[in-house]
Amino acid sequence: MEVNRAPIADPYDDAIFSPSGGPVWHWRALWRQHRWKGFKAELANHLGAWRPTSRHLLLLGPSAGWCLPQHFLTRFETIEAIDIDPLAPALFRLNHGMALARSRTRLTFHRLNLIRAFDQILQTYPEHAILFSNMLGQHRFHDEDEIRAQSTIESFRDRLSDRHWASFHDRLSGSYPPGSALPITSSSFQAIDSETLATELGLSGQWLDHLTAHVLPAGTGRHLIAWPLLRDWLHIVEFGSVEPA
Ligand SMILES: C[S@@+](CC[C@H](N)C(=O)[O-])C[C@H]1O[C@@H](n2cnc3c(N)ncnc32)[C@H](O)[C@@H]1O
Repeated sequence: MEVNRAPIADPYDDAIFSPSGGPVWHWRALWRQHRWKGFKAELANHLGAWRPTSRHLLLLGPSAGWCLPQHFLTRFETIEAIDIDPLAPALFRLNHGMALARSRTRLTFHRLNLIRAFDQILQTYPEHAILFSNMLGQHRFHDEDEIRAQSTIESFRDRLSDRHWASFHDRLSGSYPPGSALPITSSSFQAIDSETLATELGLSGQWLDHLTAHVLPAGTGRHLIAWPLLRDWLHIVEFGSVEPA
């Protein structure tokens, strides 16, 4: 796909290492797979219940699909995957290539900054269902201006009002004592602000707010899932799916 380069700079556009993907992320994902089983199972349930009408998927920020269930990916006839990580296409194919070949799902990767190319991507694929695959909560690492980053994240809510879309994204992340029980997560139809969320989940200490509290439209079902990213580092991830208004 040919795209115009919009002027918002992203320091990680042509980088191998980035705070939201790249070799460090892939290494961690490989070694933590067995510890992520619970998170992946809960995510798979939510993705399994999401039934967009299109058999074509725009998969945004999929990395190598370490957390994505094959029974979800293989439902589609075509997948257009968009990620800036140069390692993502080969590793994604290693993880899912055989299953996609069996289901005859055609996968195409585009190395693009989807924040900058978003309008063009939407125009090029007007009928595709859209999944943000844990990238919206990473955007604050790609834009040092927190207010602008939050407004960019929230802008997707309005730009997608006529589309079937879903997202799972970080809400909070922070350290937690190794071996302690994961917080019990939950579902609601209300956006919960980050401070209240941390209190409700019994989290203490310093937590990073990923600026995604309001990306889902009001009234959307929000499912919170605990994700033990590292032995001592926890993310609270939110999943929601949205139908055209
Ligand atoms: C946490 S990883 C996603 C993990 C993925 N859900 C999985 O199952 O492995 C976030 C991904 O979003 C990508 N990403 C972040 N910002 C992006 C942007 N502006 N444009 C394209 N890709 C982006 C990163 O390169 C990274 O691969």
